[in-house]
Amino acid sequence: MTVHFIGAGPGAADLLTLRGRDIIASCPVCLYAGSLVPEEILSHCPADATIINTAPLDLDAIVAECRKAHDAGQDVARLHSGDLSVWSAMGEQIRRLRAEGIPVSVTPGVPSFAAAAAALGAELTLPGLAQSVILTRTPGRASSMPAGETLTNFAATGATLAIHLSIHNLKKVVEDLTPAYGADCPVAVVYRASWPDEKILRGTLATIEEQMTAQIERTALILVGPALAGEGFTESCLYSTDYDRRFRPQSATGTRADG
Ligand SMILES: C[S@@+](CC[C@H](N)C(=O)[O-])C[C@H]1O[C@@H](n2cnc3c(N)ncnc32)[C@H](O)[C@@H]1O
Repeated sequence: MTVHFIGAGPGAADLLTLRGRDIIASCPVCLYAGSLVPEEILSHCPADATIINTAPLDLDAIVAECRKAHDAGQDVARLHSGDLSVWSAMGEQIRRLRAEGIPVSVTPGVPSFAAAAAALGAELTLPGLAQSVILTRTPGRASSMPAGETLTNFAATGATLAIHLSIHNLKKVVEDLTPAYGADCPVAVVYRASWPDEKILRGTLATIEEQMTAQIERTALILVGPALAGEGFTESCLYSTDYDRRFRPQSATGTRADG
């Protein structure tokens, strides 16, 4: 018996891996984080599966459900939104399950920052503008931030920032980032990327606050950085005609620029 943690993706039911779908279909028990995992994904569960929304449960109760399934010899599909490697609360569950000798597996999912970038049609790492993406958040009611992980520290890198769990803090985000990025730095807010009610706002650090509407709350990402402009960057060497690559050696064509 195994508890299979599965990244359920950002919202659209078809942004689930085939592996995740098949594991869900094979598990007689499914625990899902109800606030963000779309109900449609539950249609992959066997018809007679026990399906439990864990939104109202605490950690003890979730582990108790896993133990109950373990004692009955039943596999569990444990669904969290997006990918499991960021802000999924998987770490604390795995620690408890391992302590109880309950086997686990992990299947990745499409993270929300990738779905937001797709909604924008944007590459977040553009040559000469940004070669790093920082996935971060601002402090919340239940979560403080480690001392060095401030927006001002991250802003000093000039990288593309994907700021989660912070739409309610937009004013402070703008204040913290403007000194390093400049007021005209591009910003995008993507609300519920890949859901039917997805919304996109594009602006700058100077204008994004005035574009906000009351409908955009909670499930939204703030993306900031020069790469969001989608222009003013150099072309990569990847497809350059005079760049010698393993799979396209210029020496083989006689056109190698550097002789
Ligand atoms: C608890 S975290 C979960 C992150 C998730 N594990 C992931 O891989 O993206 C929830 C935050 O992720 C972001 N988020 C999750 N789904 C989103 C979506 N479909 N569109 C925009 N932001 C989303 C929001 O910032 C939200 O506050």
